[in-house]
Amino acid sequence: MTRNTRTVVLTMGLVAFVVGCRQRSGTSGEAAHGVARVNSAPTQSLQPQDPVHTIALPHDEPLFPPGPGREEFLAACVVCHSPRYITMQPPFTRSAWLGEVNKMKGVYGGHISDQQVPRIVDYLVSINGTPDPVGAPTTAIHGE
Ligand code: HEC
Repeated sequence: MTRNTRTVVLTMGLVAFVVGCRQRSGTSGEAAHGVARVNSAPTQSLQPQDPVHTIALPHDEPLFPPGPGREEFLAACVVCHSPRYITMQPPFTRSAWLGEVNKMKGVYGGHISDQQVPRIVDYLVSINGTPDPVGAPTTAIHGE
C-alpha cells in the first residue's frame, strides 16, 4: 500500500463515518420535526384574520357600604360563601342576624371571635336590617 493509497482509504473511511453520523442525526431531526408538526397543529387552525372577540363579563358582586364592622364582616363571612348569601336575605331583625352569625360560628364552625360577633351583627343590621318589633322573618331563606 503506497502512501497515497493509504490516504485515499483513510479519507473514504472518514467520509463514510461522517455520512453515517449525518444519517443518524437526520433521523432524530425528522422525529423532532414530527413533534413540531404535532405541536403546531392547533395553531394552524387559527385564522390570523379572525377578529379578536372581547367580552366584558358583568361584575355584579354586591357592594358593601363602608361602616362600623365592615372589615370584621368581610373577614369572617365571605371565606365560605358568596356575600350574596347575606344580600339575598330579606331584611332581618337584630336577633335574627345574631342567630345567623351564631349559626355560622357554632354550626358551621366559622372562625368568628366573640368580640367580632356584635360588630358583625351591627353591620348586618345596618346594611340589611329591620327594627326588631316589625315581625320580620326570623328564619333565613336557604342559600343558593
Ligand atoms: C365556616 C363557613 C362559613 C362561614 C365562616 C360563614 N358561613 Fe354562612 N353559611 C355557611 C354554610 C355551610 C351555609 C349553608 C349553605 C347552603 O346550605 O347552601 C351558610 C349559609 C348562610 C346564609 C343563608 C341562610 C342560612 O342560614 O343557611 C346566610 C345568611 C349566611 N350564611 C350568613 C353568614 C354570615 C353573616 C357570616 C359571617 C358572620 C357567615 N355566613 C359565615 C357557612 C359559613
